Amino acid sequence: FYSNLVNIVEVGPRDGLQNEKKVAIPVPTKVELVNRLVKAGVTNVEAGSFVSPKWVPQMGGTADVLKGIDRQKDVHYSVLVPNKRGLDDLVALLDNNPSDIPLTDEVSVFTAATDGFNKANLNCTVKESLEKLAVVTRTALDRGLRVRGYVSVVIVCPYSGKVDYKRVREVAKELIDMGCYEVSLGDTVGQGKPHQVGEMLEEVKKAVPVEKLAGHFHDTYGTGVANVLAALDHGIRTIDASVGGLGGCPYSPGATGNVATEDVLYALQGSPYQVAGSNNGTIDLKEMVNIGWWISSELGRPSASRVARAVRAK
Ligand code: HMG
Ligand code: MG
Repeated sequence: FYSNLVNIVEVGPRDGLQNEKKVAIPVPTKVELVNRLVKAGVTNVEAGSFVSPKWVPQMGGTADVLKGIDRQKDVHYSVLVPNKRGLDDLVALLDNNPSDIPLTDEVSVFTAATDGFNKANLNCTVKESLEKLAVVTRTALDRGLRVRGYVSVVIVCPYSGKVDYKRVREVAKELIDMGCYEVSLGDTVGQGKPHQVGEMLEEVKKAVPVEKLAGHFHDTYGTGVANVLAALDHGIRTIDASVGGLGGCPYSPGATGNVATEDVLYALQGSPYQVAGSNNGTIDLKEMVNIGWWISSELGRPSASRVARAVRAK
């Protein structure tokens, strides 16, 4: 019934870099990161965000990143947009692109399962954000873009504690109803456990077909790979991951990066699941390890991927 092909959405250049506060990462480094990931076989990559640079300074250069990328056919270079202003800026950029190849074909909109987190992240309640995002989504769809949705804090919220999975279900359903082709469910804090991932997914699946859901796990408590496997067991076939385990959300204090793409690739090697990609039909683990070490060294630290560390230590 279910396909065994697993899609990876590489979120390193966005979720990975957005939380870097010490140094402004130069646009050419971000462009090189995206290009190298795509060469390694990544076909879905979040290239940045059109959010307020006052809120998330590191994403300020996203327009230049999009312009600088060596764009490949059949690769989705998506960007986050929080509001109409972000989408208008993106559309103006797309309209002024002299090339025949569009700069991007996808945006991601984001909201949360709790008002506490949403107020910290988007300065409005969940209900208010859904109203705004309905307009953003309609406008993006009319412009021919596809739209992905995010629900944050699907298990634990840093501001209001244990999350009601019914609320996750309702918000995910609203995003699908407004026209998102897929909704990514985020354990933003990275505190979730595999059995909780299963319980949460079974609740959300009551309202949204599992083919339209993705799993987005931060690895703060070291349960990232286990949560990915639990999600796959419950029918999820799209996983967000970050090269080198980069990242964290500026509005989720103490949360670390996403589950490392290398760690997911390693865990699935030789299993019934096959990771889809454009490098001999998959994503090249060895090259991802190299990219993770390279970008981490640019940030002045070792790769956070356990697999990348183990390989390097050999
Ligand atoms: P606000 O302060 O309520 O907005 O913030 P505002 O409309 O009052 O505008 C404030 C200023 O920002 C104004 O400028 C606007 O022009 C400007 P000023 O007049 O002061 O000079 N502005 C913008 N500038 C550029 N691009 C825009 C934009 N919008 C307004 N799009 C706002 C509301 C949504 C802007 C703000 O809260 C924001 O940018 N939030 C984004 C936060 C963010 O990026 N968080 C990280 C991504 S989400 C995440 O990481 C979770 C995820 O990974 C899943 C998971 O792990 O759970 C996806
Ligand atoms: Mg995230």
